[in-house]
Amino acid sequence: MSQALDTHTAIAVIGAGAMGSGIAQVAAQAGHKVYLHDQREGAAATGRDGVAKQLQRRVDKGKMEQQAVDAIIGRIHPVSALSDVAESSMVIEAIIEDLEIKRELLANLEELCGPETILATNTSSISVTALGAKLSKPERLVGMHFFNPAPLMALVEVVKGLATDNVVAETVHATASNWGKKPVFATSTPGFIVNRVARPFYAESLRLLQEQTADAATLDAIIREAGNFRMGPFELTDLIGHDVNYAVTNSVFNAYYQDTRFLPSLIQKELVEAGRLGRKSGHGFYSYAEGSQRPSP
Ligand code: NAI
Repeated sequence: MSQALDTHTAIAVIGAGAMGSGIAQVAAQAGHKVYLHDQREGAAATGRDGVAKQLQRRVDKGKMEQQAVDAIIGRIHPVSALSDVAESSMVIEAIIEDLEIKRELLANLEELCGPETILATNTSSISVTALGAKLSKPERLVGMHFFNPAPLMALVEVVKGLATDNVVAETVHATASNWGKKPVFATSTPGFIVNRVARPFYAESLRLLQEQTADAATLDAIIREAGNFRMGPFELTDLIGHDVNYAVTNSVFNAYYQDTRFLPSLIQKELVEAGRLGRKSGHGFYSYAEGSQRPSP
């Protein structure tokens, strides 16, 4: 088995949204110096501040020492130029779920980084094989799929594309273990494991809503209380972000030759078009104004 990446090496995370910030926190907690980059000005610093805020709550509750938090935050470095990440042993991209945009970023990273740098993608659903197809060394690209929220969720899918080098996949698997995660290998099939299993869960819930069987809050409560799930489908997709979830559904639907089992929902399309993206926009199936969770009007 391959060795995990040395914690004395730097890790880079591209995209400082919900996932990128969380992944930066995980890598910094493990002891790595982390470069955090986002194309939106100020977003990387905002991402790091969000991590600081989350950890501060743990200090306030007496669950963490201030010194430990300061050390973790001190290891996260927001950088404004992509070239600043060149010295990293691994770059994890967590940008928008779009094949062409991710391909362009990966091509730029391949030019900037040394030949030994592992390129990892946090894509939820896009083929790792397709993402790597235009690289000159596709063998160094691997999926490293975290779950939301990354600091809390243990599972990481290590996704091998057709060209992925086994040593690269094993290194990422060992590194994820070192970071306190529970990695599993998966091959590059649409949605991999979890997002494949989860599609019918969301789709059927959305059909129940469309048929007005019950409202979103009632359906969530039933799934939570009778089904013993941690979250119902509507509160969960509000957390994931409807832009992300809708893009993932479309990606799996198209990858399966438009099999109607994976048909995207018009309800979710409407939410995306209205900018009601869930928690991140303050509004989805629920309204999050003043930190509360109420059904949206
Ligand atoms: P997000 O919308 O919260 O953040 C994406 C960030 O990427 C934004 O800050 C945006 O400015 C930045 N960005 C976009 N294009 C960029 C580029 N070319 N260069 C640099 N930065 C760029 O999205 P989120 O939820 O963090 O998702 C990111 C990725 O992680 C997606 O591929 C998604 O499918 C995947 N993912 C999402 C999960 C979720 O529950 N939201 C769970 C697991 C994976």
